Amino acid sequence: MPAAVPPYLYKTAVFLYTASMKIALTGIKPTGILHIGNYFGAIQPALKLAEEYDARYFIADYHALNIVKDPKKLRSNALEVAAGWLASGLDPNKVVFYRQSSVPETFELATILMAFTSKGLMNRAHAYKAAVQENLEKNDDPDAGVNMGLFTYPALMAADILLFDSDVVPVGQDQTQHVEMAADIAQAVNFNYKKDLLKIPRALIQEHVAVIPGLDGQKMSKSYGNTIPLFASEKQLHKLIMRVVTNSQMVDEPKDPDSSQIYQLYKLFADAEEQAVLAERYRAGGMGWGEAKEELFRVVNRKLTPLRSRFEEIMADAEKLEAILAEGAGKARSIAKETMRRLRDAIGIR
Ligand code: ADP
Ligand code: TRP
Repeated sequence: MPAAVPPYLYKTAVFLYTASMKIALTGIKPTGILHIGNYFGAIQPALKLAEEYDARYFIADYHALNIVKDPKKLRSNALEVAAGWLASGLDPNKVVFYRQSSVPETFELATILMAFTSKGLMNRAHAYKAAVQENLEKNDDPDAGVNMGLFTYPALMAADILLFDSDVVPVGQDQTQHVEMAADIAQAVNFNYKKDLLKIPRALIQEHVAVIPGLDGQKMSKSYGNTIPLFASEKQLHKLIMRVVTNSQMVDEPKDPDSSQIYQLYKLFADAEEQAVLAERYRAGGMGWGEAKEELFRVVNRKLTPLRSRFEEIMADAEKLEAILAEGAGKARSIAKETMRRLRDAIGIR
């Protein structure tokens, strides 16, 4: 019997014990380089989950195509994200690890799902709605700049999820709507054929690392240009950390750790004792922001140095990386082919 994920880690999980392991699946879009928000918000919790679940983690490269139209960039982003997962500790012997584009069954399933996906459902997807809203505010055509990839994004994501009989999908808050849509679409298919053809997935949201702040205090995101890249060089890391925005309090003033984003970031990297010591120095006064940033740099660099060297090692051996991904793709396809056989048979295709 698999042990449950500790309830303090995941808020929405329901643990039903079965003889076989439950399946966890997630994907990361290779639209840019990984940052520490991705690491604490997605990669680390997913790797923890893989200890208890049968995990399938993939690089969502066809999702990235909606945004990244430069072939060199798309290719290198995908490899860097893959190397990032491996450097962070993903064990390809335990986790089925692959590129989405290596599993063409995904796209066949997406075509099937389209026939069960109402346009109205896609109209309500938040990324599309946000794009329309932005256009309306500019008095532009509501669909200006919206491609069908963006519009049908939740249907492709549903295919990623449903193809692998996923029980849980660990994602950030912004992705829960998409997982709910995948569940709706699966239900529509099952209802039509009066059979449990597709497993109904649920989103798994991590509570205590909800949002990692960026350099400016907003959510860390590549769209805001406020990230700390996971594999930045030591020099770059130092420069970025010195850029963390602070208030104008003077050196001798006592400071509140809980409202300081330096401290919020520090907590992610420091042990309990270090956290208590720094909090005390904040409250006592006499420590300037520059010094607090140096403390932050010290713990961040301590944690990221081994990760960075593993990442560089993996990136230096492209052949080995490709071989790992090819092996993962092989395992993924054999699962995917089974699902497609079941579906094709049920829907009357050949
Ligand atoms: P970005 O916002 O930089 O474009 P993505 O949307 O590609 O990041 O996110 C990939 C994964 O990383 C998602 O699961 C997302 O929830 C998680 N993630 C991204 N930024 C953060 C953050 N600042 N805090 C927590 N998790 C994050
Ligand atoms: N849409 C997700 C994101 O933007 C990435 C993704 C694609 C995904 N397919 C998925 C996540 C399937 C979970 C399951 O972060």
